[in-house]
Amino acid sequence: MIPDHVPEENVYYGSGDLKKESHVPSFDKYKELYMKSIDNPDEFWGVVAKDFFWKSKPTGPFLSYNFDVTKGEIFIKCMEGASTNICYNLLDRNVHERKLGDRIAFFWEGNEPGDESVVTYRELLQRVCRFANVLRSQGVKKGDRVSIYMPMVIELVVAMLACVRIGAVHSIVFAGFSAESLCERIMDSQCLLLITADGFYRGDKLINLKHLADEALQKCRDKGFPVKRCIVLKHLSKEPEESMDSHSPPAKRSCPDLQVPWNPEVDLCWHALISEASDECEPEWCNSEDPLFILYTSGSTGKPKGVVHTVSGYMLYTATTFKLVFDHQPDDVYWCTADIGWITGHSYITYGPLANGATSVLFEGLPTYPDVSRMWEIVDKYHVTKFYTAPTAIRLLMKFGSEPVQKFKRKSLKVLGTVGEPINPEAWHWYYNVVGEKRCPIVDTFWQTETGGHVLTPLPAATPMKPGSATFPFFGVVPAILNESGEELEGPSEGYLVFKQPWPGVMRTVYGNHQRFESIYFKKFPGYYVTGDGCRRDKDGYYWITGRIDDMLNVSGHLLSTAEVESALVEHRAVAEAAVVGRPHPIKGESLYCFVTLKDGVAYSQMLEAELKKQVREKIGAIATPDYIQNAPGLPKTRSGKIMRRVLRKIACNEKDLGDISTLADSSVVEELFQNRCCPSV
Ligand code: PRX
Repeated sequence: MIPDHVPEENVYYGSGDLKKESHVPSFDKYKELYMKSIDNPDEFWGVVAKDFFWKSKPTGPFLSYNFDVTKGEIFIKCMEGASTNICYNLLDRNVHERKLGDRIAFFWEGNEPGDESVVTYRELLQRVCRFANVLRSQGVKKGDRVSIYMPMVIELVVAMLACVRIGAVHSIVFAGFSAESLCERIMDSQCLLLITADGFYRGDKLINLKHLADEALQKCRDKGFPVKRCIVLKHLSKEPEESMDSHSPPAKRSCPDLQVPWNPEVDLCWHALISEASDECEPEWCNSEDPLFILYTSGSTGKPKGVVHTVSGYMLYTATTFKLVFDHQPDDVYWCTADIGWITGHSYITYGPLANGATSVLFEGLPTYPDVSRMWEIVDKYHVTKFYTAPTAIRLLMKFGSEPVQKFKRKSLKVLGTVGEPINPEAWHWYYNVVGEKRCPIVDTFWQTETGGHVLTPLPAATPMKPGSATFPFFGVVPAILNESGEELEGPSEGYLVFKQPWPGVMRTVYGNHQRFESIYFKKFPGYYVTGDGCRRDKDGYYWITGRIDDMLNVSGHLLSTAEVESALVEHRAVAEAAVVGRPHPIKGESLYCFVTLKDGVAYSQMLEAELKKQVREKIGAIATPDYIQNAPGLPKTRSGKIMRRVLRKIACNEKDLGDISTLADSSVVEELFQNRCCPSV
């Protein structure tokens, strides 16, 4: 399955220096370890598990599972019988056993240049213990769900690890999501408590986060689900005397427009609570398969699914992928630009790096604020060695040319990574040539919220790279490509990307709906985990992701379901029907092109268009704001009334070759839609 030989031509490498210190220095070594991980997973992962602290040992095989719906319920269990605590492994073990207490865990870089602080492993442990005691004093117990809606601040890591320390299950909602989305997620996972902040800046835009949180809590109350407590961090409105939990003096953040509504029945001040809490807190020992966290991801039916990850497998998998894919070394400074509200931030800002005792940059701001050199300025400021970002950010910065990059030296960089969507070769080459100066390998990591960690990826010193290919499977991962009839294709081929067996970090269920888990991922092809992505394997055995093959769109590396946007549109009183498709976008990858049929008697206007965009933004969040809305008095439908999205995609892209449209009920609709297309400026 892994080729014996890799091609010598038309492939790229990083500089040879990396091999000297690398954990996996050659392709042969990768192959040897890969075969071991498949043939003898107990031995392979047993070696990994030795590095961690276990309160009790496993009682059975390393992994047990059923991937075949025809044989009964789907399950995956890793290290059953063992007990541990991830927070203990990430912090106490590093401070006490590995003597890394003085090592910096995070350099925090605020939105505003000059707004910065640092936290060591010892300090992080103290802060987490204090906040864990606060949660306990509020009645949070093992297994309870806690919702977290916070900006990119160290307290977000503190909040998540405090949950983990007491065995509570965190459900982090990206702070760019709307009040409605937050309410939906709080209710679906029946969260006991919400942790939020007053507000934050994204570039020069103030986000009144507490306002949104209050709106969400009101919606929950209206729907009969009152959340009793909301802990509020003062991030922008902190007084100097409230900064005792922070390493550096509070920065001056001018925010005259900040509004922090306060509901004394529900709201509690973070700073007041921690000032009275002890910084010692006995961890709750959890079973391997206890839930660790829930993270919502878009579902093709429109309802987000709560992906559940569990304790031991996720810990081992994120720790190992981080160590090997970024070839982590003790003197590294690592920076992942994702938000912790997404899986990339969970696995590769918090869990993977801290498990390895890594020093990371935690960045609150944007790549373009105050100017488009910000990223490279930060790279030089902290001597970043390993840098991980999304193709959409690379394409955005590429637009401004190489000068803003070359203003900074970037000599510290050793490995570059990308994640979230296929990277087009042009962006890959710019990243490799301009940012990394042909010295740094690019790890194009393919994975999903559901996979917990990287599943197809190069290893920086071992894998010859092909621009745009996620190359080969990580240890323990067995990919296959299936045709429509579910037959495995051999050699060069294209079809559905599936996995034949679990790895430790794969999701275990959809929260509160195991049936949905089985039907989304395991029904179509019994015996396989179905990713929902198309994939091609070339003659050299390299894997190339070709994009989603369901009704999902990937906008700036974020998955959105067309159904979710459509239902937000039809909730507007003027809209009778809506259909949403993706239209390629030079920076975002895909943009949202929406067709709306208005109710009888309603006229289309610019004002209505603006209202519809606002409606979607308010229902879902800014990432789902439609790029184009077209008035569609009729939609192309089959005789049985099914909307032909394939045709709509062609209209959005102005492609006249429609293929077979003989099943269309009324073809005149198509001509009319072509005539009235939105003429996008990009
Ligand atoms: O379509 C694939 C794309 O992102 C999807 C997963 O999205 P999400 O669960 O939000 O997680 C994103 C961060 C891991 C996948 O099904 N995707 C992710 N990484 C890549 C990718 N497509 C191509 N190449 C990648 N490296």
